[in-house]
Amino acid sequence: MTLEQAREKLIKYGQEHVLKYYDELSDTQRRELLAQIEATDMSILEACKHKEDLGRKGVITPLAAMELDEIEANKSSFTDTGLEAIRGGRVGAVLLAGGMGTRLGSDNPKGMYNVGLTRELYIFECLINNLTDVVHKADAWIHLFVMTSDKNNEATINFLKDHDYFGYKPEYVHFFKQEMAAATDYEGKIYMEEKNRLSTSPNGNGGWFISMKNSGLLELVHGEGIEWFNVFAVDNVLQRIADPCFIGATIQKGCVVGAKVVRKNAPDEKVGVMCLEDGKPSIVEYYELTDELMNAKDEKGDPAYNFGVILNYLFKVKELENMLEANMPLHIVEKKIPYLDEEGRLVKPEAPNGYKFESLVLDMIHQMESCLPYEVVRNREFAPIKNRTGVDSVESARALLQENGVRL
Ligand code: UTP
Repeated sequence: MTLEQAREKLIKYGQEHVLKYYDELSDTQRRELLAQIEATDMSILEACKHKEDLGRKGVITPLAAMELDEIEANKSSFTDTGLEAIRGGRVGAVLLAGGMGTRLGSDNPKGMYNVGLTRELYIFECLINNLTDVVHKADAWIHLFVMTSDKNNEATINFLKDHDYFGYKPEYVHFFKQEMAAATDYEGKIYMEEKNRLSTSPNGNGGWFISMKNSGLLELVHGEGIEWFNVFAVDNVLQRIADPCFIGATIQKGCVVGAKVVRKNAPDEKVGVMCLEDGKPSIVEYYELTDELMNAKDEKGDPAYNFGVILNYLFKVKELENMLEANMPLHIVEKKIPYLDEEGRLVKPEAPNGYKFESLVLDMIHQMESCLPYEVVRNREFAPIKNRTGVDSVESARALLQENGVRL
């Protein structure tokens, strides 16, 4: 892209300020900046001017979950079905680790965080240990795909390599990078993170399958006959991954998606809850839950929207391929975004200072025809690390790990 073309594009979107330092740059830096301007989708930035129009929901009705008693009653049959799928190489695991983990506030990828107290025990290690349990049980290796972003790719790969993948077989670990999106101030103006670089953030976890496809990994997926992906977040150190019983339940119920859920601990707990939206599976965020929905009861007299998602889903690969062309809704999230101030000095803000633009994996659920919400016991499978202290923190996760017999 030439300077003239870049200027034209920037004027169209009101972003001419990103050329502020252009005259000071070397030829290489100029080329880098022009290339980034060319590659950046600026049309999405306009969305922050009509934020209230985003994410309008359709008609919400309840979607019953498979509860613990039903799971218990069918445990051995579900588990056998799941183990058979794993042994047949039909299940892969996808670790979403492209996020910035800004709330935890560590400069390293979140998975590198050491939750140990008397020994080293990293978040990545906890997750790989949990997956390895299933590998032993099934006596079959499971392909593990790790999504990173430009911001943490090298550090993640090097860390896992340096730790010998915590005992996982290297041939079964694959990395791919997600896309980035520009980050803006509250007026929708793109921040600069260097004089020749727009501030960028990973574009949310909703693009994981497209990014996997763009990386060329689907060839391996097809070659190996992988039909299901268990997609999970980096921050829940207790979750069971490629859980045979969960996989078997989803398969036996004939659903194309399974979603692990926990019973809410209060009607207003801040988790997204499973529901139907216009008759299709969906997730309604806690801030979208009206009082009427919050207090609605099902036929048993229990709260009708009582099961929160924990970002552990099982997707059927064929269905993911069918939805590759679908438009994902855009979410605008307030974040702390490093930026160059008026004097051109890099500032790392202590509080949110602007927007990043994301698509979310939970929106993929609504593209699917059927979904099985599958209840898990909160204290055994849900220990997310979002913050350093307090709710969903290193502290609370450590307590839960210990409660579950993990030595720290
Ligand atoms: P979070 O919603 O906790 O976001 O991600 P985050 O960016 O990691 O953390 P904060 O909000 O800045 O503190 C939930 C999961 O989705 C992944 C994260 O790595 C985590 O496993 N994720 C998030 C991505 O893979 N890519 C993204 O762009 C965002």
